[in-house]
Amino acid sequence: MTQVKKATLLIKNIGQLITMEGPAPRIGKEMSELGMIENGGIAVAGDEILFVGDSDKVQGKSELAEGCTVIDAKGMVVTPGLIDPHTHPVFSKTREKEFEMRILGKSYMEIANAGGGIRSSVRDLRETEYSVLKEKTKTRLDRFLAYGVTTIEAKSGYGLSTESELKQLEIIKEMNETHPLDLIPTFLGAHETPDEYREEKEKYIDILINEMIPKVVEANLAEFSDIFTEAGVFNVDESRRIQTAAKNAGLKLKFHADELNSVGGGELAAELGAISADHLVYISDQGIKDMAKAKTVAVLLPGTTFSLAGKQYAPARKMIEEGVVVALSTDCNPGSSYSESLPFIISLAALQMKLTAAEALSAVTVNAAAAVDRIGKIGQLCPGMKADITIWNINNYQEIPYHYGVNLVSKVVKNGKLVKQNYIETKN
Ligand code: NIG
Ligand code: FE
Repeated sequence: MTQVKKATLLIKNIGQLITMEGPAPRIGKEMSELGMIENGGIAVAGDEILFVGDSDKVQGKSELAEGCTVIDAKGMVVTPGLIDPHTHPVFSKTREKEFEMRILGKSYMEIANAGGGIRSSVRDLRETEYSVLKEKTKTRLDRFLAYGVTTIEAKSGYGLSTESELKQLEIIKEMNETHPLDLIPTFLGAHETPDEYREEKEKYIDILINEMIPKVVEANLAEFSDIFTEAGVFNVDESRRIQTAAKNAGLKLKFHADELNSVGGGELAAELGAISADHLVYISDQGIKDMAKAKTVAVLLPGTTFSLAGKQYAPARKMIEEGVVVALSTDCNPGSSYSESLPFIISLAALQMKLTAAEALSAVTVNAAAAVDRIGKIGQLCPGMKADITIWNINNYQEIPYHYGVNLVSKVVKNGKLVKQNYIETKN
């Protein structure tokens, strides 16, 4: 006889319960569907969603386990825990001087070519002890959680030597095991060519392919391989070689593509069957068509354009119209976008890329799940899926882009447990 599962957590009186039930991922007009239940309730058993529905009905059919936590949402908004599908959280020093140099007129690439940028973070990370780096990373993860994020994809890419890349990936692994947030690890050894191989890039590519990728796979420290495909970093041919090797070694693919120049990164990502291509400010029309056909998710990072003081944002509306799966992320990193606030990214996506609140919410939940290959597991509040839940101190989900720059999150539930409670009053 099958045992009836008892509820260990019950959330009742939810004003707007945004389940995201329905098409996964959301394409085109589907991005406006929220699967919304007014006056809803959720019952959770352990780390899984048991029931969602009308508040009274959920309460009526749930048998409560002893010590069950009951949360009265008092008319607040509830969404799936947010998913940030593109972050670089393991770094040591911040780079606020570069931010100021950009304000005064220098470009990101000018700063990078003068020895700043990614390579300065590499020099710094190599000198930083594991324990110090771990503590700094943890602080950033705490901030993600406070802003309603329950899963992040986390990249290496500030080591650029076998030893230092493994050090970053070990920290990501340890954080995944010890912090409430889930971290999905990505190897980004092809983020730049490090100082010692500037004149011998081929040697570095050889190390990437024949030493770093095999070691990372052998140690089971990454699920994805990413690369910075960009003029002056790795060109399309080099990227194809490196990413083909990663794919053959068993890693799924992601790309930093067409961020600063149109180089054919979107096309290459589609050609290699990548799970996602990210940035895409300068994607070509062909790239959009190829990505739609290959179902490669476009992870858009408007915080990067914002923080680089750029004028052009990724063509989100065009991608949505052409049937590309669109997700959003912070790109949290010390250089081009230092923020853990995915809700602020929703505001930027609304204002600068003309996404509605519903479209942007699809982009940080169900479509972000597609960007990390987790459809059916996270990003929707449906029976059997992970109980990762964000409770917002607002009456209407449209307040999320509108009331910008403040934290609207009230509580965060991760794996069925209440792990975060914010105390600042934001309700109107
Ligand atoms: O996604 N463009 C490459 N990588 C990061 C920036 C990293 C850095 O500046 O430290 C990005 O924008
Ligand atoms: Fe990035």
